[in-house]
Amino acid sequence: MFMNATTPREAARAELEATYDLAPSLALARETADIYETVKSVIPEPDWAMHAPYIAAINRLKAEKDAVILAHNYMTPEIFHGISDVRGDSLQLAIAATEVSQQTIVQCGVHFMAETSKILNPEKTVLIPDSRAGCSLASSIKPADIAKMRADYPGAEVVSYVNTTAEIKAVSDICCTSSNALEIVESREGDTVIMTPDGYLAQNVAKESRKRVVYWEGACIVHEQFTAEELRQFREDYPGITIIAHPECPPNVIAEADFSGSTAAMIGWVKKNRPEKVVMVTECSMSDNVAAELPETNFIRPCNICPHMKRITLENILWSLHSGGEKVEVADHLLEPARRAVERMIAINRQD
Ligand code: 13P
Ligand code: SF4
Repeated sequence: MFMNATTPREAARAELEATYDLAPSLALARETADIYETVKSVIPEPDWAMHAPYIAAINRLKAEKDAVILAHNYMTPEIFHGISDVRGDSLQLAIAATEVSQQTIVQCGVHFMAETSKILNPEKTVLIPDSRAGCSLASSIKPADIAKMRADYPGAEVVSYVNTTAEIKAVSDICCTSSNALEIVESREGDTVIMTPDGYLAQNVAKESRKRVVYWEGACIVHEQFTAEELRQFREDYPGITIIAHPECPPNVIAEADFSGSTAAMIGWVKKNRPEKVVMVTECSMSDNVAAELPETNFIRPCNICPHMKRITLENILWSLHSGGEKVEVADHLLEPARRAVERMIAINRQD
């Protein structure tokens, strides 16, 4: 039997091709040479000729549609350096979402990040280029799990990582990110704090906190893969190397590192200290994005890919702006309690 094989994604692709000239173009590569200058050490010239038509179209549409692009540090270099207006870690993007003037926010990151932007801007349109961009931490916990932990530790406040759904934020007392987790835990009343959903982040915070930290045992599929042996091997293979790691890694991995911090803190540390040789123990695109700006530093690149972050591409960003989809919505009853948990966190950061 004859079947029509056109999927929604193929149809979107066909509409984009009918509307924009997306063929690889040396002329557009030359027109966008100022952007290429930043990424030339990490993107070969022929690849830039393929990206340039998308970059030109996206940058034009952004202005026409009064849209702003927020990009996480794990976006690929052509997105991160080519089309984003605000770049950063989860905390920086959440704060930026409260400050942008544009009516539409395109979130280049995973779904919980776009949801956070919507929670903070219910009246704005928030688009995510691919709504399948999830997170192993966000999907690891349900509201009933929080209720059970509250029953097990009566009176303990719940600090939830922003890597959670709006449903979880709504039943949490406050949020945290990897850049402020210790400070947020320390700011809570009582001796015991419940941290969800990242068990490793919680254990890393517990090592430095005066509080008793009890936690949910979720994990990031990118960071849980790194091992202490692997880090010791880097030191053997590359004498003099500096190792910096994200706090979603297991505690014995963090113990082997010279520095640990959020993605933005890791970038800031490398830019300030300019090590000759460095390995960033985190998602792969981070090193590319920083290497583009620091050609004199040798980035050793064993890394792990986040398949969720990698769902975001120039093609689906263009489609998002062109079609106005996929819109992120948060149920009315979750908006206010989820916003309270995020805003409490932002308020503590603003006091600093
Ligand atoms: P930060 O950018 O806040 O450090 O978080 C890392 C992460 O895994 C986001 O998905
Ligand atoms: Fe989630 Fe880990 Fe991917 Fe970040 S890197 S989105 S924490 S799975």
